[in-house]
Amino acid sequence: MRRPFLNALRAAATVLAIGTATAQTTPPDAQIARGRYLATAADCAACHTNPFGGKAYAGGYGIASPLGSIYATNITPSKQYGIGDYSLAQFTRVLREGIRRDGAHLYPAMPYTSYTKLTDADIAALYAYFMHDVAPVNVPGPKTSLPFPFNIRASMIAWNALFLDEHPLRSDPNEPEAVNRGRYMAIALGHCDTCHTPRNELMAEKSDRPLAGAAIASWYAPNITNGPAGIGDWTEDDLVQYLKTGDVPGKAQAAGPMAEAVEHSFQYLTDGDLHDIAAYIKHAAPLPDLDQTQPRDAFGHAGTDEALLRGNPQVQDSGERIYQSECASCHRPDGRGSNDHYYPQIFRNSATGANSANNLIAAILLGVDRTVDGKRVYMPGFGASSFVQPLSDREIADVANHVLKQFGNAHDHVTPDQVAVIRQGGPKPFIAQVSPYILPAMIGGGILAILLVAGGIAVFRRRATR
Ligand code: HEC
Ligand code: HEC
Ligand code: HEC
Repeated sequence: MRRPFLNALRAAATVLAIGTATAQTTPPDAQIARGRYLATAADCAACHTNPFGGKAYAGGYGIASPLGSIYATNITPSKQYGIGDYSLAQFTRVLREGIRRDGAHLYPAMPYTSYTKLTDADIAALYAYFMHDVAPVNVPGPKTSLPFPFNIRASMIAWNALFLDEHPLRSDPNEPEAVNRGRYMAIALGHCDTCHTPRNELMAEKSDRPLAGAAIASWYAPNITNGPAGIGDWTEDDLVQYLKTGDVPGKAQAAGPMAEAVEHSFQYLTDGDLHDIAAYIKHAAPLPDLDQTQPRDAFGHAGTDEALLRGNPQVQDSGERIYQSECASCHRPDGRGSNDHYYPQIFRNSATGANSANNLIAAILLGVDRTVDGKRVYMPGFGASSFVQPLSDREIADVANHVLKQFGNAHDHVTPDQVAVIRQGGPKPFIAQVSPYILPAMIGGGILAILLVAGGIAVFRRRATR
């Protein structure tokens, strides 16, 4: 008679204990909400969620690196396939040092070089969100396998020694508070610099050229420093509008990776945070570019050529003909676009005024697709799988040259070879170009020598900067 009572008592005690235990370990709602906001601001989903119908954070599609595809793993709290067994300390180590729970080094395709600047409080908020608000997905993510020698994860020790700067961001008391806050949002959350800062031969960001412009696959993330080669003629409000909507008429539109960042991340940031980011960007030192002496959005004017405006069927120039048949229906014969700016003007437009026409070519090949605040902006691409009209490298070069001459930076000239490179996914960084030569050099003790040299340089650098 006493046993069932005791058992019932025990059961009640267990329920109570679990109740209090969860009450103690479930983080406060505000911390989870902060973690959710930070995960959006850092766009963890961009890599960790497969955009083709994948479950949230259950593993991404291959990030095309010049060395092969690198897969972002399942970071749901699944114990078997995700990060369910990660402690806060282990989670912190991934974000700060790029070291996994099992001790293996991550490739910097995971932007730990940025997240290393996150505060302890923000890492704890991210941890609370991933552990308590993200649904576990018990499915393994795809595996990364790079070719030798890049499959040796330990080689990242040398890379980290050279390029990972774990010091927290320094706030400058002489700068406005908004600039310091904006630096944290822009840099620690890994956003602007990962695309806009050029990289050196070993694919690390060049610390002396922050935000000075860099190729990213088929696109080019332009110089966004505060000078004539960058966005010196933009106001803080222009920048906020661009980050929030991807469109500032008469200046620039966001396509490619920038469209994705706006769509999945920046449009959800608070106006306060966007203004802080803009204040920081406007405050950063201007970095010149010898070839871009006039702002990108200061080139060209509406077309006045009579033949062009009438759509004269006699035109001889192939580029002009293609413009009339493929582009003028939306951007109009005079390049002014539509009155409501849905179809943008293509003169005084960053894509046609840049010293390199890469983004003009990429826009023609790949189109523009961006959904902001529920509204979709869409331009079809003219690449091989175009449902409108596939254009050849020569035809794209012709129409791009016509657009440049008529509406943009007439000094620039596009060749079919340049189009071919962009069609194939953009210029290959140095490390990928030389990898076939690195390979034999590394075999036979070469690896050891290179690591020792890299380690030596790292020690030297650290000493030198003390
Ligand atoms: C630009 C792409 C990218 C973004 C953005 C990104 N990650 Fe990653 N992440 C990766 C890749 C790629 C890997 C695997 C790298 C490897 O295999 O070396 C990874 C690995 C990880 C791991 C290790 C998991 C394991 O396998 O044990 C964790 C944890 C993680 N990321 C968390 C995050 C969080 C949290 C965020 C947002 C704050 C984030 N990541 C944003 C690309 C990204
Ligand atoms: C994933 C890569 C990526 C990230 C992250 C990113 N950008 Fe960009 N950005 C680009 C690319 C590519 C373009 C060119 C887009 C185009 O021309 O359609 C661009 C264009 C821009 C432009 C327009 C410049 C011009 O003259 O056309 C501004 C301004 C800008 N980015 C600011 C930022 C800021 C500020 C951040 C961080 C808060 C940021 N970007 C983060 C890739 C990125
Ligand atoms: C069906 C309508 C349509 C056609 C046809 C079209 N465009 Fe566009 N174009 C758009 C839209 C929409 C945008 C994006 C507007 C935005 O981002 O707010 C755009 C954007 C652009 C941009 C800016 C891209 C950037 O990255 O900043 C350029 C340059 C451009 N188009 C050139 C062309 C050229 C050249 C052709 C012909 C080969 C063409 N377009 C055909 C609708 C069209």
